[in-house]
Amino acid sequence: MKNLFKRSRLTLLAAAMLAASGALYAEVPEVCAVCHHDNGISTDAHVPIVAGNAVFFTENQLFMFAEGTRSCAEDYFASHDDVAAKDHCAVAAELSEEQITAIAEAFEGMEHVAFEQDCDVDLAATGEGIHKASCEKCHSDAGSVKDDEAGILAGQPKAYIIAQLKHYRADERPPAEMQKPAHGLSDDDITALAEFYAREGKSRF
Ligand code: HEC
Ligand code: HEC
Repeated sequence: MKNLFKRSRLTLLAAAMLAASGALYAEVPEVCAVCHHDNGISTDAHVPIVAGNAVFFTENQLFMFAEGTRSCAEDYFASHDDVAAKDHCAVAAELSEEQITAIAEAFEGMEHVAFEQDCDVDLAATGEGIHKASCEKCHSDAGSVKDDEAGILAGQPKAYIIAQLKHYRADERPPAEMQKPAHGLSDDDITALAEFYAREGKSRF
């Protein structure tokens, strides 16, 4: 009982903080904008670009964080003195289902912009070959199509892509349909794929 009470109070607090950030939601809510900025375009290589992703995809990520089935980015949160939450799972667990849907709709309405970064053209060419053979069937048009509901890959920060592929390879992030293609990747393959999505981000967004 005590725990339930605590949880509902926290949820109300989160609701008040989110409501204070304006209409549901023309911009990224304030509690999230510390890292995702008002427009969902990150300037930190560890933080993905959330703008432009499909509703279903974003909802899924927030549910997985809330349930703790996706890794919670504890180390990243520990490096942020300006954020009270201990990790991403705690942030997502504060949200109601309605808030999750509203946030996901707002993200879909925002324009995806490529992360600013360099790109190694030789490695990108290697990455293109791997992508075409193993990834394009689910991440069409070089992972640039939101309606695939698999997350926009083109234009994501390289460090983020690398970290996620290592999570999938180690079965630390669901789903199995994504873990399976990651199992076959070497560290060099992963680096090359990240360069490829960086290159495609520059030419497409
Ligand atoms: C302290 C910084 C921080 C805050 C605050 C934060 N995030 Fe994040 N967010 C991150 C990081 C870092 C990742 C990548 C996590 C990883 O490496 O697995 C991420 C990932 C995500 C993803 C997954 C995107 C993808 O492509 O898979 C979504 C969706 C998201 N955040 C939404 C939110 C929302 C909504 C809020 C507010 C309720 C929020 N975030 C608050 C840093 C933050
Ligand atoms: C059978 C379909 C399938 C194949 C093949 C596949 N993926 Fe995925 N991938 C998915 C799905 C579905 C998701 C989204 C999962 C979710 O909702 O969390 C995803 C998510 C991802 C993400 C996380 C995006 C984000 O923003 O969080 C990355 C990175 C990724 N895939 C890269 C790849 C690469 C690289 C390959 C090839 C080696 C590949 N995928 C092959 C289906 C696939």
